[in-house]
Amino acid sequence: MGQGHAETYKKLPNAELVAICDKDAGWLELCRERWEAPHAFSDYREMLELGDLEAISIALPTFLHLPVALAAFEKGKHVLVEKPMAMNAAEGEQMAAAAKAAGKTLMISLNQRFDADVQFLKRYIQEGHLGDVYFARTLWRRPLGGLPSPTLNRPSGIYSGRNWFNEAAKGGGVLRDLGAHVIDVALWLMGYPELEDAVGRAYTQFLPDFLSGTQLIGDADDHSVGFARFKNGASLQIEASFGQHIDHDELITEVFGSKGGAIRWSGRPLKLFGQVSGAYTTTEPRLQERRSSVQEEFVSSVLEGRPPLVTPEQGIAATRIMDAIYSGGGSSASPR
Ligand SMILES: NC(=O)c1ccc[n+]([C@@H]2O[C@H](COP(=O)([O-])OP(=O)(O)OC[C@H]3O[C@@H](n4cnc5c(N)ncnc54)[C@H](O)[C@@H]3O)[C@@H](O)[C@H]2O)c1
Repeated sequence: MGQGHAETYKKLPNAELVAICDKDAGWLELCRERWEAPHAFSDYREMLELGDLEAISIALPTFLHLPVALAAFEKGKHVLVEKPMAMNAAEGEQMAAAAKAAGKTLMISLNQRFDADVQFLKRYIQEGHLGDVYFARTLWRRPLGGLPSPTLNRPSGIYSGRNWFNEAAKGGGVLRDLGAHVIDVALWLMGYPELEDAVGRAYTQFLPDFLSGTQLIGDADDHSVGFARFKNGASLQIEASFGQHIDHDELITEVFGSKGGAIRWSGRPLKLFGQVSGAYTTTEPRLQERRSSVQEEFVSSVLEGRPPLVTPEQGIAATRIMDAIYSGGGSSASPR
């Protein structure tokens, strides 16, 4: 993801790429050349000493998000952190408190909000076309071939090793990877209602077999399901899977309200359902959205001194649901 961040910053007229950092020396050198970065560091603490550096993107394995964000706020930098913001809601709260104490921006990189369908749907729901939203269903699941590869391999061949996406302690697992996106999209469309409670179950179903004979750790969840209830009476059904007995990738968010419904299925036109003069209607809106990016929104929010589109509070709320799913139930149960 660091590649995506660097590429987008390079294109923004109101931002300048000052430095990059990666602990993998060969990969760092390749990236320094590719992105013509004036400075390259293998230690993020050294990078944070740079006076010219005003803001950073954290695109590290998830267990490193909190320590790096805390160090960045200590040095007075603004932070865009990849999703999920942290390992659990308690870490998210610590990160948000540090941002507040430093008076710096903290945004979570949830790029699906910038999808044209999602942007359209948000406005459509805000305009009241669905009425009161009472239920949503959100999922991202892949066929069995979608399990993360045992090792990470860079195109250069320079980087190879364990794939942290398969390791729970590193912040791997499908709920934190694919689940983080679809939970945020659904919650954002629902207006981030206040959580009452959530239950769920996280499975490590296929990874042990997949990695058998490799000596690699494969204890992260590869299939997770959850159900969240909100204080306004609404509820949300969640599913995320790295591998199921299905034949193609499915990315779905469905939202239902007192006046209508909306279905977003990847690869198909957005569908809206409602009633006009008593008759049920189905429409497929023609979208002409200008697609912005996470980085563009982050930079603009910093320069304009306003809260970003994805706030720390929302990141924490989404993580709280994941905590409940990992712990099996009860949103207040201790997180994994
Ligand atoms: N928004 C999205 O669509 C999206 C997609 C994929 C991943 N992500 C998120 O982005 C983050 C990174 O995921 P990724 O797929 O890019 O992982 P990755 O493993 O491909 O890249 C992580 C990089 O961090 C480097 N690194 C590890 N420890 C380091 C340290 N201590 N100091 C400096 N560098 C270090 C590694 O060498 C590696 O190059 C995760 O939080 C993940 O959830 C987001």
